[in-house]
Amino acid sequence: MVDPFQPDTDKLAAVRAALPALGAGIYLNTGSVGPLPAETAAAMAEITDYELRIGRAHPDYMSGFLERLDEARGAVAAVLGADIAQVAITHSTSTAMNSAIGAVALRPGERIVTTRSEHPAAVGPVLAAAERDGATAIFVDLDDATTDEEILRRFDEAIVPGTRLVAFSHVLWTTGRVLPVAAIGRLAHERGAVVVVDGAQAAGAIRIAVHELEADFYAAPGQKWLLGPEATAALWVSPAVVATARPTLVGWFNYEKIGPDGGRYWPDARRFDGTQFHKASISGFARSCGWLSMYVGLTWIHERGAAMAARAADRLAGITGVEVLTPRDRMATLVTFRIGGWTPDEALAELSARTFAIARTIPPVEAIRFSIGFFTTEDEIERVASAVELLAAHTPVSLPPRPRLTVLGQGSG
Ligand SMILES: Cc1ncc(COP(=O)(O)O)c(C=O)c1O
Repeated sequence: MVDPFQPDTDKLAAVRAALPALGAGIYLNTGSVGPLPAETAAAMAEITDYELRIGRAHPDYMSGFLERLDEARGAVAAVLGADIAQVAITHSTSTAMNSAIGAVALRPGERIVTTRSEHPAAVGPVLAAAERDGATAIFVDLDDATTDEEILRRFDEAIVPGTRLVAFSHVLWTTGRVLPVAAIGRLAHERGAVVVVDGAQAAGAIRIAVHELEADFYAAPGQKWLLGPEATAALWVSPAVVATARPTLVGWFNYEKIGPDGGRYWPDARRFDGTQFHKASISGFARSCGWLSMYVGLTWIHERGAAMAARAADRLAGITGVEVLTPRDRMATLVTFRIGGWTPDEALAELSARTFAIARTIPPVEAIRFSIGFFTTEDEIERVASAVELLAAHTPVSLPPRPRLTVLGQGSG
C-alpha cells in the first residue's frame, strides 16, 4: 500500500534517479545549465525519431508542434504564477532581454538605468539601445550596498526624470543576492519608466508571483533552473503594456494577420514569440517545466532548494579563511565564496579533482559559485564543504620567485 506520508528521502531518491547527470559528479552549476530530466530527453528523442521516420512535412507535425508550444507557454506560466496569454516563448534570456528592451522607443538623451552587476544578457541590449537611440546608460553600483534600503536609495538617485527604462536582475548572477524587485519597480513606475527584469537565476529556483513584482517584462531561461534544453526561454509580458509594446524581432509567428497591406500583431504575448523553433527543444522545454511543477512540485522545489542553499552558505561561512559573498538574508539558491590564498581557478580545479564538483568561477567578483539545487543532498554539501575546508587550511604551494638573470657586461636593461 502506498503511504501518503512517505518520508522525504523516498521522494528525493526518485527525483534524483530521474536526473541522470547527477551521477556524473556533485552537480553545482544549474545557474549555468541544469541537469536534464530523463523524461525531457525522451520527449526530445521522440520528436527527433518522428522527424527521421515520418518527416517534417506532415500536417500533424506542425499542429502537434503548436500544441507543444502552447504547452511550454502554459508550463512557464505556472512557474511564474502568470496567465498563459502573458508568456512568449523565445530562444534565450538574452533574446528575451533584447526583445523587451528593444520594445521601448527611446529618444536621444533619455536614460536607461541598470546596475554594474548585470549579466551581459542585460548589459548588451542596454548598451545597444543606448547607442542606437542616443540614450544614456546609467550603471548603479551595488557592490558595497549591503541592505535593501541602500539599494533602493541608489536606484532612487539614478531614476531621475527622463528615465524611460529600468533593467535589472531578480537574483544577481555574481553574488546571488535577491534584489528588492517590487520596490525598485514601483519607484520606476512612479517615474514613468518601463521595468525589465532578468529572471535567469530566479525562474524555477525561487517562488515567483510575477504580478507582484511591478515588472513590465520578465525574462526566464529554459536551460537553467527550469532544467530544459538549451536555446529555450520565455518572456513574460505584463497585460498593462502588451497592447502598446512593439516587438522588434518579428516573423510569421508574431502576427494574427499579415500581408502586404499590413499586419496585426497577436493581442497577447505571442507578439514576442521567437520567429522559428527547434521542435524537439520546445517539446523538451514543455516536458521539463511540466515535470517540475507536476511531478516534483514547485513548493517542494522552492522549500528544499532554499533549505539546502542556506545549509551550504552556513557551512562555508563557518570555515576559517572562507568569505561568503552571498548575503544570508537575501539569498536564493546561488552561493558565491572565496577561499583565502587561492585563486578561484586553482581552488575550483582542486575541488573538481577531489570531489567531482561541477561548479564555476565568477570572474567579476573573483569567486567560486555553487548553484544548489532542490536535488542537492546534505551529503554532497558536506563532501564539497570538507574539501573547501581542506583547501582553506592549506594555501597552495607557490614557487619562489625566479632569480633575475644578470648577464655581465650587458647592464641591467
Ligand atoms: C542573470 C543572467 N542573465 C542571463 C544569462 C544568460 O542567459 P541565456 O544564455 O539564456 O541568454 C545568465 C547566465 O548565463 C544569467 O546568469
